[in-house]
Amino acid sequence: MSTTPLSAAGTHDLAGFRVNRIGYGAMQLPGPGVMGPPKDHATAIAVLRRAVEAGVNHIDTAQFYGPDVANALIREALHPYPDDLAIVSKVGARRDARGNWNPAQRPDQLRADVEANLRALGTERLAAVNLRLHSGPDGPDGEHVELADQLAAMVQMREDGLIAGIGISTADRAQVEQAIADAGIVTVQNAYSLLAREDEDVLALCAANGVAFVPYFPLGSAFPGMPKVAEHPVVRRIAERIGATPAQVGLAWLLHHDPHILLIPGTSSLDHLEQNLAVAGVRLTADDVAALDAARPA
Ligand SMILES: NC(=O)c1ccc[n+]([C@@H]2O[C@H](COP(=O)([O-])OP(=O)(O)OC[C@H]3O[C@@H](n4cnc5c(N)ncnc54)[C@H](OP(=O)(O)O)[C@@H]3O)[C@@H](O)[C@H]2O)c1
Repeated sequence: MSTTPLSAAGTHDLAGFRVNRIGYGAMQLPGPGVMGPPKDHATAIAVLRRAVEAGVNHIDTAQFYGPDVANALIREALHPYPDDLAIVSKVGARRDARGNWNPAQRPDQLRADVEANLRALGTERLAAVNLRLHSGPDGPDGEHVELADQLAAMVQMREDGLIAGIGISTADRAQVEQAIADAGIVTVQNAYSLLAREDEDVLALCAANGVAFVPYFPLGSAFPGMPKVAEHPVVRRIAERIGATPAQVGLAWLLHHDPHILLIPGTSSLDHLEQNLAVAGVRLTADDVAALDAARPA
């Protein structure tokens, strides 16, 4: 168990919340394929409680995790919420009975889905909600919804007090530029890790605008087909030398890479949670950072 306080890794503003840079992502809590109940309900509750007890004040979630499972667990574990806890959700997708992730980008759907999050979590306002974009159509019938109209729906919800801040997710540089201009977004959530750095330009744009960049899949995700950070030989070599785990090295590199990066590693395990919290005390040398900077998928 780590003795280094989370704040040692620094903090960042998130829609008026001063959050620790080490947060927690709730997507690993539901069952396999992010569907259904957790494999161990008591452990899921314990993970959430331990995270907040250790200082996590930024939790990422979605109504479509489960669906309806992650938010119910957060409420059971943590309600009534501490005043400094920033719960961030996302809208723009719905699950069907087979677990497909279907786009749901119409303004009425975005609003209904923010309201569903508020009801499920038992709160009147979310710290931020990410507008989750998709590369294909914006609805199951092939419909298209202008990004400007989606952002306008988000701005209206902020004006109505349902959300404190707006984020955008899985967005390219042009979309992030538009979201900064039209909606004053406070966070971008894109896939990014030591071994998946395609969005370096989006990170630079966030840094220049004081927008939090929150990588999803920071370890390469639980899904197959993506390079796993903890399996990379350079990561493993450094981990062994400094007495850390490979996952910790991958997360520590993210923290080192840019001060606008906030972590939300997902885990269903108390042991992995402790490791991820303890990244606050992991120090990389300049040589370590240079070797990691040069690392590419094996
Ligand atoms: N905006 C979006 O579209 C979007 C998409 C995906 C995810 N997200 C958010 O981003 C968060 C992070 O992404 P993610 O959870 O998919 O991927 P991730 O954090 O890259 O990886 C999660 C995987 O790593 C394992 N893991 C976690 N900590 C570990 C450790 N210390 N050592 C070894 N293995 C460890 C987990 O297994 P165990 O459970 O066994 O620890 C799980 O298999 C999610 O939880 C979710 O909140 C957002």
